[in-house]
Amino acid sequence: MPPKPVLIAQISDLHIKPPGSLAYGRVDTAAALERCVAALNEFVPKPDFVVISGDLADIPTMEEYEYLKRLLAPLKLPFAGIPGNHDSRDMMRAAFPHFPYASSSGPLDQSIEIRGLDVVLLDSSVHGKPHGELEPPTLQWLQTTLASSPDRPALLFLHHPPFRTGIWHMDRQNLRNARELEPIVRSHRRVQLIATGHVHRATLTMFAGVPTTICPAPNHAVDLDLAELREPSFKVEPPAFHLHAWFPGEGFGHVVTHQVPIGNFDGPHPFFGPDGKLL
Ligand SMILES: [Fe+2]
Repeated sequence: MPPKPVLIAQISDLHIKPPGSLAYGRVDTAAALERCVAALNEFVPKPDFVVISGDLADIPTMEEYEYLKRLLAPLKLPFAGIPGNHDSRDMMRAAFPHFPYASSSGPLDQSIEIRGLDVVLLDSSVHGKPHGELEPPTLQWLQTTLASSPDRPALLFLHHPPFRTGIWHMDRQNLRNARELEPIVRSHRRVQLIATGHVHRATLTMFAGVPTTICPAPNHAVDLDLAELREPSFKVEPPAFHLHAWFPGEGFGHVVTHQVPIGNFDGPHPFFGPDGKLL
């Protein structure tokens, strides 16, 4: 039997408002998170860990983080999160004091080893700004962390994508100093995946020679406007999360990212009947 994969679920951009408020006057982000938590709890086999890749709150306020904690309480899986542009480092630190922060002040970077896989969380938030940037202490910490256990594969998570998507109003608020991240990733071959959020859509490209993804959201999606046709807009598209499966193997093994839609769908139904023939 081949070894079981390590399963890292990624959920992103929860945008939790105070109880009773809708995001943009229209989206019930709390109900969306409840459905997402139920989907994570029901998933078989059980994911090993859940990463929340930013924009946990919306304004942000402590009331939102307290509500978020109540909404996450039913989650039966271990989790950690990093801030996005809608978050506050100080409030997140106060709301989630048990996350394994690399330092007692400043960026909320974290590194968690899960059955031979390093899950590295990078804080790309910039206080009061929508764009992202990795501060010098985070870049230094990443370099040191990646150098410290060179034989283990690593997955990097951060909120802001280090690439342009073609969606004009999101590209002006992506990771501004991607050029500083690139040489670090290139010099550590153990980085197998870079997983981001911020754009609320499933997206894939290569960055620094590594597959790099954006995770869809459990609520609304940023409109896929590749022609600057509209003002910044959102659409309520099918909600989903990502499930990154790392399979041990030769070298650093390999990672497969699955998109998991959230909701009740018809099936599963067997392809074959009792006689072994296609139905
Ligand atoms: Fe964001």
